[in-house]
Amino acid sequence: MIRAVCPGSFDPVTNGHLDVIERTAGLFDEIIVAVLVNEKKQSLFTVEERMEMLAEVTAHCPNVRVSSFKGLLVDFCQQNDVRAIVKGLRAVTDFDYELQMAQMNRRLSGVDTMFMSASPEYSFIASSLVKEVARGGGDVAHLLPGPVFRRLSERLGPRGGS
Ligand code: PNS
Repeated sequence: MIRAVCPGSFDPVTNGHLDVIERTAGLFDEIIVAVLVNEKKQSLFTVEERMEMLAEVTAHCPNVRVSSFKGLLVDFCQQNDVRAIVKGLRAVTDFDYELQMAQMNRRLSGVDTMFMSASPEYSFIASSLVKEVARGGGDVAHLLPGPVFRRLSERLGPRGGS
């Protein structure tokens, strides 16, 4: 049984994240989508809300479960018998930092990182950009899973709260 982790902030989960999670679920026996608890970073949604949204939009994938972690990802991997970290790569700009983290994580724990190329139709999507556009009143309905779009609209209010 090979278990992989898809880690991230997921504030909130986008269609790009979901694409990577679904494709990863087709390659491994079990996937844990792990939300980083980062008390230093201000987020729009609480960790519990982000986990609820992830659980809702991955409910059709029987081998995916949602969790959260504090501290180092490698410790979470060791505690949960995770053999691979899977990260989506949108563009070459993602690569430098991701490679550095992958090499550090391997040195720390021996866990390997696999990179999944983003589907071209999602390669421009980032949670931060989606929130910025939504706050400005732009239409982000096509960038987010339906339930996530509805929660974002509720949270930001009419015209993104602007
Ligand atoms: O969605 P994000 O914010 O790009 O995800 C980044 C994340 C959570 C995957 C990364 O910051 C991480 O793994 N943080 C956990 C802390 C850690 O292990 N740091 C050392 C990295 S070598």
